[in-house]
Amino acid sequence: MNVSLTVNGKPVECDIEERTLLSDLLREQLGLTGTHRGCDTAQCGACTVHLDGVAVKSCNLLALQAAGGSVTTIERIAAGDGSLHPMQEAFRECHGLQCGFCTPGMVMSAIDLVRRCPEPDVGAIREGLEGNLCRCTGYDNIVQAVALGARHMRG
Ligand code: FES
Ligand code: FES
Repeated sequence: MNVSLTVNGKPVECDIEERTLLSDLLREQLGLTGTHRGCDTAQCGACTVHLDGVAVKSCNLLALQAAGGSVTTIERIAAGDGSLHPMQEAFRECHGLQCGFCTPGMVMSAIDLVRRCPEPDVGAIREGLEGNLCRCTGYDNIVQAVALGARHMRG
């Protein structure tokens, strides 16, 4: 089957199988390996991307379900000059990562959370990220990073 969508601002057309997951299309056909694959069962959030501006788990969507849509991955979050997105910068400042495996998904979910709730308190951050798992950090630094990222995003 043929699918057309926009990925990171560029039109893309791919031949896929009906069962191809969006995460597989991104990683294997488009080489966007910043979108990680942890569980493939919609539990860990490592594969989180934005579809039409909303955070989704790309292992839980068929590529066909994104047809005609606009997908943004972690590769597109930094500015054109390479400077980090405010949320990425906050993760760096607060040491919100250790191995980094969960980080792309955490950042994509956090940006979506802050767009919907510009001043999240600790409870809202923890609730907003409950679909993203981290094996390393114990979450406290991630929560601090998202709070700081929210402040940065508000300017
Ligand atoms: S790989 Fe998609 S939620 Fe874990
Ligand atoms: S930093 Fe290692 S899984 Fe989160």
